[in-house]
Amino acid sequence: MYYPFVKKALFQLDPERAHELTFRQLSLISGSPFEFLIRQSVPSKPVTCMGLTFKNPLGLAAGLDKNGDCIAALGALGFGFVEVGTVTPRAQDGNPKPRIFRVVDAEGIINRMGFNNLGVDNLVNNVKKSHFDGVLGINIGKNKDTPVENGKDDYLICMEKVYPYAGYIAINISSPNTPGLRTLQYGEALDDLLAAIKNKQLELQQRHQKYVPVAVKIAPDLSVEELIQIADSLVRHNMDGVIATNTTLDRKLVAGLNHCDEAGGLSGRPLQMQSTLIIQMLSQELKGRLPIIGVGGIDSLTAAREKMAAGASLIQLYSGFIYHGPRLIKDILKHI
Ligand SMILES: Cc1cc2nc3c(=O)[nH]c(=O)nc-3n(C[C@H](O)[C@H](O)[C@H](O)COP(=O)(O)O)c2cc1C
Repeated sequence: MYYPFVKKALFQLDPERAHELTFRQLSLISGSPFEFLIRQSVPSKPVTCMGLTFKNPLGLAAGLDKNGDCIAALGALGFGFVEVGTVTPRAQDGNPKPRIFRVVDAEGIINRMGFNNLGVDNLVNNVKKSHFDGVLGINIGKNKDTPVENGKDDYLICMEKVYPYAGYIAINISSPNTPGLRTLQYGEALDDLLAAIKNKQLELQQRHQKYVPVAVKIAPDLSVEELIQIADSLVRHNMDGVIATNTTLDRKLVAGLNHCDEAGGLSGRPLQMQSTLIIQMLSQELKGRLPIIGVGGIDSLTAAREKMAAGASLIQLYSGFIYHGPRLIKDILKHI
């Protein structure tokens, strides 16, 4: 109810500063007598996907809680699952600031954060301390200074460390802000990476006596042929799910708007149609062999329904939460 006022104040600030302030408040409130201020009761809408039971199909997308600082507070807002990260083996600063821009007129966000995070060990410590009764996804990536040819090693290091604590593991090969990362989506590089990830997953399953599903997060900037090849590779390597999509490099829908030419990935409403199209094509290609987690521009119940109609079993959002606040979670879950 009060988000429009909060938003007005936050939107006066630089986006990253607004994010830091909000996170500080959330972690202070979480677990305190004031937690009722953020807790939302949402209808239970259980979904089974990747062998896991989700209390509802709506999750928080990766990137908002990169270090797992606010898992319980984000859970209290009603999300059925929260994806933390992207985390890398070693801490890194990310790109110089400013690196997040609001394209307000289109309800979009452009970011070139560059995987700023405190490293996988710090994330694991935070996860161990957190209390969340939903499914926790842990999204992993590679350090900027790891050559892309050795990128596989970084994913395997992160997998080893997060496996015992993750509900599922998300493999991010689609951020546009780590040079070369998206090349891992193609051909031999993808096959090689997925084979190594599958081997590691089975080895860790033996060691920990539990199976943690792995989902691969892909970009929206793919041709039909590229998408078909990716789908084929995901099936061949027995991946457990695909997350579609990450941010786009396309600026057609924001041309002429403030900040439209900033480098980075565009998310929010201008991404909505493009990501839905990718989900539709993936769904046709996969024919139910792999579940799809749909993400990109979900800003309303209608947009959420479109993603599910296109073939998504679960959905996630990030930018819609920034523009519409916690109420959006409730509005979607009431009727989906
Ligand atoms: C500021 C910002 C940072 C992000 N960081 C990550 C990240 O670290 N890892 C990742 O997989 N996706 C990241 N994303 C992408 C989102 O998870 C999501 O895929 C994308 O924003 C599309 O969803 P949306 O339109 O609901 O925001 C980030 C998005 C934003 C806006």
